Amino acid sequence: MELVRPGPEHLAGYCAALSRGWSPNTTRPEAAQEQLQAIAADAAGFLTTLHDPEALGPRVTLPDGSQVERLPGVVRWMWAPEDAESADGSFCGSINLRWPKDHGPLPPHVLGHLGYTVVPWKQRRGHATRALALMLPLARSFGLREVQLTTDADNAPSQRVITANGGALMEAFTLPAAFGGTPALRFRIAL
Ligand SMILES: CC(C)(COP(=O)(O)OP(=O)(O)OC[C@H]1O[C@@H](n2cnc3c(N)ncnc32)[C@H](O)[C@@H]1OP(=O)(O)O)[C@@H](O)C(=O)NCCC(=O)NCCS
Repeated sequence: MELVRPGPEHLAGYCAALSRGWSPNTTRPEAAQEQLQAIAADAAGFLTTLHDPEALGPRVTLPDGSQVERLPGVVRWMWAPEDAESADGSFCGSINLRWPKDHGPLPPHVLGHLGYTVVPWKQRRGHATRALALMLPLARSFGLREVQLTTDADNAPSQRVITANGGALMEAFTLPAAFGGTPALRFRIAL
């Protein structure tokens, strides 16, 4: 599995995964339909929003519907040719990196520098663990010296992904109300 910068040649597999009901946003399932509509309306424009290290794109919608300023960020798609026989082809999942322009602390509504999700039908193949490993040098190339990640307190698979990549537990905390107000863990990976 490799990470690819999303391009036109990857859209068919991505749309097939969205059409099966998978959402790239773990807190907003409705993002799947929104993205299918955005791709149908302007595929090139959609792809532009996935690589935006200057934060030129539109404001970001939070789970409670409120909108906030976009941080610089990039998205990569997990691409495994050995999985190509499935309906969504080589597409396996998505991982995104975002950071404050001044490289300072993340705002409270941004739960971590990195977020990832693997389509349910291609989980437990090591894709998320490898995707995070491949993303860390990219984070460093954008000037970050550490990344923070948060998981739900009961999300053991995601915690395994982080600790397998050198993540150290920073704290247990409660998610902001807009994200459900449930228990969570915050990790740090030094770059
Ligand atoms: C968390 C998630 C990204 C893991 O993706 P994945 O590609 O299946 O992860 P990996 O194959 O790299 O597995 C990582 C570890 O979790 C374990 N694991 C994965 N899925 C598991 C499951 N359903 N139950 C128990 N353990 C599981 C693996 O065995 C592996 O453990 P190991 O390192 O001890 O072998 C995936 O389950 C997912 O997309 N979940 C929904 C979105 C989400 O929670 N994202 C993270 C938000 S912080």
